[in-house]
Amino acid sequence: MTVPADTHAKAPPKSFHVKSFGCQMNVYDGERMAELMAAQGMAATTDANAADLVILNTCHIREKATEKVYSDIGRLRKNARLDGRAAPMIAVAGCVAQAEGAEIVERAKVDVVVGPQAYHNLPSLVADAAAGAPALDTDLARLSKFGRLPARRKVGPAAFLTVQEGCDKFCTYCVVPYTRGAEISRPFDALVDEACALVDAGAVEITLLGQNVNAWEDGERGLHDLIRALDRIPGLSRIRYTTSHPNDMREGLIRAHGDVESLMPFLHLPVQAGNDRVLKAMNRSHTADGYLRLLDRIRAVRPDIALSGDFIVGFPGETEAEFADTLRLVDAVGYAQAFSFKYSPRPGTPAADLTDHVAPEVMDDRLQRLQAALNRDQQAFNAATLGRTCTVLVERRGKLPGQMLGKSPWLQSVHLMTDAPIGALVEVELVQAGPNSLAGVKRVRAAA
Ligand code: 5AD
Ligand code: SF4
Repeated sequence: MTVPADTHAKAPPKSFHVKSFGCQMNVYDGERMAELMAAQGMAATTDANAADLVILNTCHIREKATEKVYSDIGRLRKNARLDGRAAPMIAVAGCVAQAEGAEIVERAKVDVVVGPQAYHNLPSLVADAAAGAPALDTDLARLSKFGRLPARRKVGPAAFLTVQEGCDKFCTYCVVPYTRGAEISRPFDALVDEACALVDAGAVEITLLGQNVNAWEDGERGLHDLIRALDRIPGLSRIRYTTSHPNDMREGLIRAHGDVESLMPFLHLPVQAGNDRVLKAMNRSHTADGYLRLLDRIRAVRPDIALSGDFIVGFPGETEAEFADTLRLVDAVGYAQAFSFKYSPRPGTPAADLTDHVAPEVMDDRLQRLQAALNRDQQAFNAATLGRTCTVLVERRGKLPGQMLGKSPWLQSVHLMTDAPIGALVEVELVQAGPNSLAGVKRVRAAA
């Protein structure tokens, strides 16, 4: 659809830059948009300020994330002006595009607005915009984009694969059910084919993505069946998945953690809060204790599993005692890593109507205390892995000559000196732990 505005015809862009904000699914979508534009013959640039077309692949999850897009647009135009260049064509993609639609055209006079389910139409939208009218497509037609994107040709050793999109959980603070729509799973066969294509294109590890990835299903099959099928693909050494909901963590998937060797011992399982009244007000439909019992079952089959979570502090009405329950839950779990946020009211969500706001300085204080506890646990987790020998997937070069960076099975960043190439799996001993990464040394086997 085109919307009237006072823009004029522009030269069709020859180069493009994609900037993705937010979650890993956005990173995946951004990669696919780049492949799509490259397939049209446009050149990818790493410098946003040198591109004819800038695609901002946006995040709507919190207010701060949303506002970033507007400051970025302003900065891009200012830089072009200072350099004496024509302003780039700007396409706003992702969840802000979905949520705000034509408002973005009005507020920021951008050229293209395209939602997360419609980006396969980017080339025609860009052509419309070049012809002089801003173009908008926020159709939520489900899954149609996947069949219309170019095949994957070259990917890094750790690749993403979207298997499921959308969310039916309606946590009261969250915009995702509105921006990404209802839960929907891509079909099993298409996913196995795409996984094989990713391995042919260079992937050694695949992370299965979905807003509720463990709700993936195709008929009778659940996510564990998909994982077991991918485990059989020659050359695919590692499988991960994210993000999961505690209530979709079914027996078959738990069992897979115990016996599928390529399924890495890492699980991102957000809990958000440790107090049952707050969890209920968030519509999480699980209790703190139910979550802890679930973790016990997972640890029973995979004792070394690294756990990760998401937390929100300062949900409306959260008292000090209720927040203390979150700290207690954190102590009980011992997370290997976690993300924590101050509650941010999102227009259109049920929680946005709640009036018993937590004061900003109280939120700041709680976030600080929570992050101190999470950092402490992350360091303790890293320290506990020292002396262990594990396989590191080499993903990129480090800053020092001869240094390479990769990931341990527990998703820790590991740096090591090695001549192993990107994509290699190297046996290393973890010898030193910093705040955000570990040092590993290549294990030299003793001669037999
Ligand atoms: N305010 C703060 N954090 C939020 N999240 C989702 N919605 C909000 C919000 N309105 C957090 C949750 C979720 C993560 C992706 O973002 O912790 O798991
Ligand atoms: Fe948002 Fe809750 Fe769905 Fe996660 S489960 S995407 S937090 S509504």
